[in-house]
Amino acid sequence: MSNLIRSVVTGVGAYLPEDVVTNADLAKVVDTTDEWIVERTGIRQRHRIASGHGVSDLATEAARRALAAAGRTPADVDLIIVGTTTPDLTFPAVATMVQRKLGCPIGIAFDVQAVCSGFVYALSTADGFVARNRSKCALVIGAEAMTRLMDWTDRGTCVLFGDGAGAVVVEPREGQGTTDDRGLLGFALRADGTKQDLLYVDGGVSTTGEVGKLRMQGNQVFRHAVVNISEAVVAAAADAGVALSDVDWFIPHQANQRILQGVAHRLGIDEAKVISTVALHANTSAASIPLALNQGIADGRIKPGQLILMEAMGGGLTWGACVLRL
Ligand code: UT7
Repeated sequence: MSNLIRSVVTGVGAYLPEDVVTNADLAKVVDTTDEWIVERTGIRQRHRIASGHGVSDLATEAARRALAAAGRTPADVDLIIVGTTTPDLTFPAVATMVQRKLGCPIGIAFDVQAVCSGFVYALSTADGFVARNRSKCALVIGAEAMTRLMDWTDRGTCVLFGDGAGAVVVEPREGQGTTDDRGLLGFALRADGTKQDLLYVDGGVSTTGEVGKLRMQGNQVFRHAVVNISEAVVAAAADAGVALSDVDWFIPHQANQRILQGVAHRLGIDEAKVISTVALHANTSAASIPLALNQGIADGRIKPGQLILMEAMGGGLTWGACVLRL
């Protein structure tokens, strides 16, 4: 095995806005109940971004915490990639706003639009810079204000989503080329544009000229999620050269507790190895995986050196998975 550069996660941080919206709060707005939401989704509450704040504010705070965890400062950062589908403005990219707010030097900054798969796409994209020595210190962020896309008269969607941000610092480290190396060991990314109608926003710059609202055929998306995610998980593990039984923690995109269970059941994964934050955060799209990663580290379950498999599916449809040794 030859030496090679790995993209190693050296710090993790997250930020949730203060305002908490419970299922009971939503039952006052739409025809729903706490019982229905908990039984069908596992969600008990979600956080909502404050008025006057933009997604770049959430992303910047998560990034600040990730840099502190890595022992780095904004001056070190030469690459920022933000996975988001709810930018402050149509342009510029949220990543350039984070760069400005943190005071990072001139470098590379752009957003990745892959909806709920945004973090998996963004981390895999960062690997193309870091592992080729094009970046010495990258910030990869998932940040969303999904509540701003809700139709508050549609009980089938408005109870499902929340706001937040998670970030990781990624740095190059020399590895041995084995699965014992720290860093991103493999990934699998997928998209199928023929399934657009299952999950989309009904507005946009070049069509309606308005932001639009999120529309979803929930049960169809659910069906595709379990099958697609399972395939990507197996493909990412094969790409990394690891067996699923070697994985210490599965960190799924947090859309619905029943999807988490469905994927675990299909792949024979012990549910005790699945990090779940859906009850407290709901579906925060691209932010959900780094938020769950941060939670698992903060509560002491996830430890340095452990093998982690992250997976997601979202609008596009897009989906994917990646394998990381922390
Ligand atoms: O982030 C990635 C993308 N998103 C997802 O992965 C989400 C995937 N989908 C889901 O999580 C689930 O499909 C939902 C939670 C959205 C819905 O659960 P379901 O078991 O698939 O229910 P359903 O859509 O088949 O609806 C069943 C019933 C319907 O009533 P009828 O037509 O049977 O009388 C809905 O109107 O539940 C009703 N319903 C509700 N009832 C109370 C839908 N939303 C609600 C609600 N409260 N909030």
